[in-house]
Amino acid sequence: MIELGELKKAAAEKAVEFVEDGMVLGLGTGSTTYFAVEAIGRLVTQGYKLQGVPTSKATEEQARKLGIPLLELDQVDSIDLTIDGADEVDGNLDLIKGMGGALLREKMVAYISEREIIVVDDSKIVDVLGTKSPLPIEVTRFGHGRTRKHLEALGCRPELKGGAEPFITDNGNVIYNCRFDSIDNPYSLEIQLKQIPGVVETGLFLRMATSVVVAGKDGIDVKERYRSKK
Ligand code: A5P
Repeated sequence: MIELGELKKAAAEKAVEFVEDGMVLGLGTGSTTYFAVEAIGRLVTQGYKLQGVPTSKATEEQARKLGIPLLELDQVDSIDLTIDGADEVDGNLDLIKGMGGALLREKMVAYISEREIIVVDDSKIVDVLGTKSPLPIEVTRFGHGRTRKHLEALGCRPELKGGAEPFITDNGNVIYNCRFDSIDNPYSLEIQLKQIPGVVETGLFLRMATSVVVAGKDGIDVKERYRSKK
């Protein structure tokens, strides 16, 4: 029986095989990406000239300890390759991300990444988004109870991340994890959500992944998106 941690590590290390000397890398967040950042740290130790743009304070701290040179998002025009995790992946390689609370920075980094490689174990693969994971949505602290009602009106059950002691994101906002029965049209839902004042960002990552590395008990599968990212 292969442990979940081993699958996460296998997917992450497979993705790091795509890293080339001289690249600017987006450094994702979460327990799977953790292993990728460790492997990138080893490449830096071996002499690779890499620079990283972290997607959270936690990843920034890990990368600093490993000696990975870091850049702010404002210092780069584009990122060669980002490695990040996901909470769900559907057949179009569209994603739900953000259960770790870093979705805003992750999405800003993904948006300017030439390649976005997602690393998951096979429990994250779904036919329809929203069937396993809730959808995390970052909202302003101001009036978040009102924003919650707007989210509910779209047919989900929003739960404040952290409950009585709300989780505060790296950007000073809160997160509602919104449970849908299923998200049949993520593209129209994204438009509806972004029209709500108070919604900062959603965990729907649509047409952003260029590859998904899936680790399962029978091995590793690399799924590629063949159409253009944008
Ligand atoms: C962090 O905000 C998330 O987007 C993570 O990438 C996602 O939740 C997957 O995390 P794990 O790799 O820890 O499952």
